[in-house]
Amino acid sequence: MSGTEPAVPTGTAPVGIAVVGCGTISDEYLRNLTSFPDLDVLFCADLDLTRAKDQAAKYGVGASGTLAQALEYPGVELVVNLTLPAAHAEVASAAVAAGLHVWNEKPLTTEPASGRALLAQAERTGVRVGCAPDTVLGAGLQTARRLIGEGVIGVPQTALTLMQSPGPESWHPSPEFLFQPGAGPLFDLGPYYFSALATLFGPASRVAAVGRQAAATRVIGSGPKAGTEFSVDVPTHVGALVEYEGGGAASLMFSFDSPLSRQGFVEITGTEGTMAVPDPNRFDGDIKIHGRDHERGHWETVPSAGASAGRGLGVLDLARGLRTGVPHRATGQLAEHVLEVMVAVQASLEGAAFEPVDSAFVVPPPLPEEWDPYARTL
Ligand SMILES: NC(=O)c1ccc[n+]([C@@H]2O[C@H](COP(=O)([O-])OP(=O)(O)OC[C@H]3O[C@@H](n4cnc5c(N)ncnc54)[C@H](O)[C@@H]3O)[C@@H](O)[C@H]2O)c1
Repeated sequence: MSGTEPAVPTGTAPVGIAVVGCGTISDEYLRNLTSFPDLDVLFCADLDLTRAKDQAAKYGVGASGTLAQALEYPGVELVVNLTLPAAHAEVASAAVAAGLHVWNEKPLTTEPASGRALLAQAERTGVRVGCAPDTVLGAGLQTARRLIGEGVIGVPQTALTLMQSPGPESWHPSPEFLFQPGAGPLFDLGPYYFSALATLFGPASRVAAVGRQAAATRVIGSGPKAGTEFSVDVPTHVGALVEYEGGGAASLMFSFDSPLSRQGFVEITGTEGTMAVPDPNRFDGDIKIHGRDHERGHWETVPSAGASAGRGLGVLDLARGLRTGVPHRATGQLAEHVLEVMVAVQASLEGAAFEPVDSAFVVPPPLPEEWDPYARTL
């Protein structure tokens, strides 16, 4: 290479990122986003300026400050919104108003009206919205999709999922928001399960649910606030039924009320067999297949193949899409549909009737198996 030749392909550059919200989950994001060569993390913002400054220093990010400063910072094209669910709409809308693309943590917003308004605003402005969970892009769920596409369980018919635990207040240092509207097991963990099933079954058409709340208050179990009691304002146990437009049917359970931790249980049963899909809150994991003709109890194990770097893969897919013009996969539309499903589940458990769901989304195409987050492609 001559001294004047650029080290990277000409005409393009890494996509400039501002991370807004420097709390618990920002570590995983910042670790990954700063390690993907197609991204350039330029700014960390938070209401708590010390937190923003500390995270910037920890991950070698050059600048930190307020949301307003992040939106004006030279080179920032994409805002990664890791604030609390109650702030998702406001922060994302401010980014879009500044002409920036947005990646939101889940849920997209706390209710469909603000989710739809955000997508409409982005469409008018000509910017993109992506949303967690990006676990649907991980090796585990992508391999499961590939295998289902190859017909290993025949035509998918039904799904069974289980997520139960004693609740996140044992490990999260500020768990109060996880027991307020916009969270609870349904809205906090539901996006992983509903998104995974949406990429396999397509849009949902109606739901039904029952719910319970085991206790009106809980106690923080770790960190500086350990021992503090806080109120619980959402159902902490939800059992849901979902019917899909394409004819599939799913039974899902979400609970923070069990002393037993059993998470990530997702089984898809098709005309020719059952597939145990990896935990939809993870990026990796083996796939297990029990064919109808297998000896009973004999599962075949298939290792997953693809990207398993962790949170931030969806940001990278969105960023690469900005440069290449290819649609990104973890879209705001998918997240808005999942939000509508969860809100319908909530309405059903309050009203004891089936609730219709009528929003649509395009099932994203699978990621190529060789998709490499650590390659410089821009
Ligand atoms: N903690 C996890 O394991 C986890 C996992 C996956 C997804 N998430 C999602 O990530 C998001 C953040 O969760 P967390 O656990 O990191 O919460 P957290 O409370 O640890 O951190 C949230 C941060 O956002 C900041 N913030 C809130 N409102 C803001 C605003 N308007 N402008 C700027 N900063 C603001 C807060 O000051 C705080 O530093 C949530 O949407 C959650 O659902 C969390």
